[in-house]
Amino acid sequence: METLETREYPIRINRIAKSRIESVDFSKIPFGKVFSDHMFYADYVNGKWTNATIEPYGNISFAPSISGLHYGQLIFEGMKAYKNEAGDTLLFRPLMNYDRMVKSAKRMAMPAVPKEIFKEGLQELLRLDNDWIPPRPGASLYIRPFMFATDEYVGIRPSENYRFMIFTCPVGPYYDRPVKVKVAEKYVRAFEGGTGQAKTAGNYAATLMPVIEAKEQGFDQILWLDGCHFEEVHEIGTMNVFFVIDGTVVTPSTEKGTILEGVTRDSVIKIFEHKGVPVEVRPLKIAEVVEAHEKGLLHDAFGAGTAATIAHISEIGYKGKHMILPDVKDRPISNMVKEELINIKRGRTADPFDWIYTVPA
Ligand code: COI
Repeated sequence: METLETREYPIRINRIAKSRIESVDFSKIPFGKVFSDHMFYADYVNGKWTNATIEPYGNISFAPSISGLHYGQLIFEGMKAYKNEAGDTLLFRPLMNYDRMVKSAKRMAMPAVPKEIFKEGLQELLRLDNDWIPPRPGASLYIRPFMFATDEYVGIRPSENYRFMIFTCPVGPYYDRPVKVKVAEKYVRAFEGGTGQAKTAGNYAATLMPVIEAKEQGFDQILWLDGCHFEEVHEIGTMNVFFVIDGTVVTPSTEKGTILEGVTRDSVIKIFEHKGVPVEVRPLKIAEVVEAHEKGLLHDAFGAGTAATIAHISEIGYKGKHMILPDVKDRPISNMVKEELINIKRGRTADPFDWIYTVPA
C-alpha cells in the first residue's frame, strides 16, 4: 500500500495485482457494463472527510440498514475523459460537474465533498487507469462520482455519515440510433419545489416504469412535461432537450428547478451563441412544438447529455399522433453542434471557451 500526500487529504493506494484490461474488447464496448481496474472512495465521519483510498474495483461491504439504501440520500454525476492525439488525458468542464454535485448534495441534505477530494481522487484514478481511456472515435471513459448515506439507522432524518466514490468505465455511444420519444401524458418526473434539478437516484427510478410502458408502445424514452398542467416541456430524463423551430433553437429554461442543469446543455447553448445561431432559453409549451410540426417548421429536435452527447430525435409521439422529424443528414444545426462539441472535447479544435482541463501526467 502506498500513500499519496495531497495538501489535506492523503490518498492510500492499493493497486490491482494484475490488470483486467486484456480481457476487454475495446472495438465493441457496451455502455456501462465494463469497469476499469480501480475505484476511489472517501468517507464522511464525525463531520470530517477521511479515509481517501484507491483500491481495485470490486464489491463494497455495508450493513443492510444503511439509510442510503432506504431513504434515497444518493446523488451522482456523469463525466467523460478523452485522449487527444498527443496522448494527454482531457476532461470536459469538470468543475461544472463538481459544482452541480455540491448543489445536489445541498438539496438532498448531504455534505459537500471537498473540491480537493473530488479533484485529486479523480486525477489519481485517471492516472492509474489511463490505459482504459479508449482512444477510438466514438468511445471515451465515462466517470461516475457518487455519494450515499451510510448511517445504520431506520428513521427519517439526514444521515450523519456518507461515502463518496468514483469508478470509471470505457464506453461507446449511449444511443446507437436516433431516439423516439413519447410525450408524458400520465406520469410526472418533476414538479416545482421537488428534486428535479438534483442528480439524485430517485429522479431516475421514478421514470423506469413509465419508460417500460413507452417502450411497449414503440418509443425509447419519455419527453417529460410539467407535473401540474402537462403543458411545459421539461427534459427527457437521460438528457436535456432542444428543438429547432423555424431556424431558431429553443430549449426550456431551468429556472423553476425542475430540469437538470446539464453540462452538455449549457455547452450547446454557448456554442450556438458563439456561432451566431439564434437560440432561445425560455419556457416552452408542448403545444408550440405541435403547432410548429403542423406548419412544417419543426426542423430538428435532439437531446443533449454527457452519456448521450447529442442524440437526434426521430419521432415524437403525443396524444396518439406521431410527429416524424427530418432525416438526420438534413439536420445542419444539430450536426454542427455535435461535431463542434466532439472536436473540442477531443482537443481536435481550438477551445474558445476554455472548457478543457488537461490532467497533469
Ligand atoms: C449522464 O448523462 O451522465 C447521465 O447520468 C444520464 C444517464 C443516462 C447515464
